Amino acid sequence: MKQTIRYLAGVAGPSGFGSNSTAEQVTRDCSGFSTPHNLTAIITGATSGIGAETARVLAKRGIRIVIPARDVERGTAVKERIQKENPKADIIVLKIDLSSFASIKRFCTEFLSLGLPLNILINNAGKFCQNLEFSEDKIEMTFATNYLGHHLMTELLLEKMIETATQTGIEGRIINVSSVIHSWVRRDKFHFNNMLSPKNYNGTRAYAQSKLAMIMHTVELAKQLKARNARVMINAVHPGIVKTGIFRDHKGLVTDSLFFIAAKFLKSTSQGASTTCYLATSQETNGVSGKYFADCNESHCSNLANDESEARKLWKQSRALIQRRSQC
Ligand SMILES: NC(=O)c1ccc[n+]([C@@H]2O[C@H](COP(=O)([O-])OP(=O)(O)OC[C@H]3O[C@@H](n4cnc5c(N)ncnc54)[C@H](OP(=O)(O)O)[C@@H]3O)[C@@H](O)[C@H]2O)c1
Repeated sequence: MKQTIRYLAGVAGPSGFGSNSTAEQVTRDCSGFSTPHNLTAIITGATSGIGAETARVLAKRGIRIVIPARDVERGTAVKERIQKENPKADIIVLKIDLSSFASIKRFCTEFLSLGLPLNILINNAGKFCQNLEFSEDKIEMTFATNYLGHHLMTELLLEKMIETATQTGIEGRIINVSSVIHSWVRRDKFHFNNMLSPKNYNGTRAYAQSKLAMIMHTVELAKQLKARNARVMINAVHPGIVKTGIFRDHKGLVTDSLFFIAAKFLKSTSQGASTTCYLATSQETNGVSGKYFADCNESHCSNLANDESEARKLWKQSRALIQRRSQC
């Protein structure tokens, strides 16, 4: 109850920001990054919604943005929109389909061949599938796109991020965009093989499981990075509820009515991008890793999401699967 009132009133938390802070507000003081112009950020899912706003605001702060887009024309349209507002914005659009291991590998090879540094990786792309669909690697589409795709992409870019952080002395940041809906997943329903190929498919459950997996990825990778003394931090985010394209599969009277009723709880796109932008640029979160954030402040995720042994197990299963399927 107290939390709901804080949310509705937009009361600021310890960071000085709250639920109604916008991405522009939280990045206004990027002074900690003495040379934001030399920073490079990859933002997945930046062709619309929260990701497009994240790209716009970080570009405005002088950060070079790489947009991996499944539809390059949509990516180019976002690039042109940002450059109309800010002609100096440095934006690169490259092709990717996050549901395909082969496409992710091609993207990473192409990005690495550019010889750019990599300071910030924002794993933001997301998909909700009302009906059961499979990726080209024969994996349930939501799990493949939202989680496994980002797992592989992060792995292929990690050494570049560690190298950049070592060479520049600037801490690298990985941000996994999750959702509060992760807490709906029951421990006894979280089975790896069933997520790859569900018997009784339910779109909301598949989406929630993929978002839980993103927090577990955060927990495990934070541990691995710490063990390596790498200056790269990783945190997970619930952006808030924003009416974006993610709900396009949910069209209809019921969804429209729910949005109407929930209107008071909805965030604008810029408020939805704020927690990600805060974690990407804030100096107050220096050294903070493996945590879950909402409304620009550290928050609580479910016990299952925080379970280190489950996170380790998921990591190992994901690695083994990606290696197996990549050889096919
Ligand atoms: N909106 C909310 O209320 C809410 C709440 C909690 C969490 N989130 C999370 O926030 C993130 C951003 O979502 P959003 O609300 O901004 O939704 P959105 O407007 O639908 O954006 C989703 C983005 O993901 C991209 N994408 C989807 N499948 C892809 C694939 N196979 N390969 C590459 N890119 C792909 C989309 O690209 P295309 O342009 O090609 O479709 C689009 O750019 C998601 O992770 C979502 O789960 C959103």
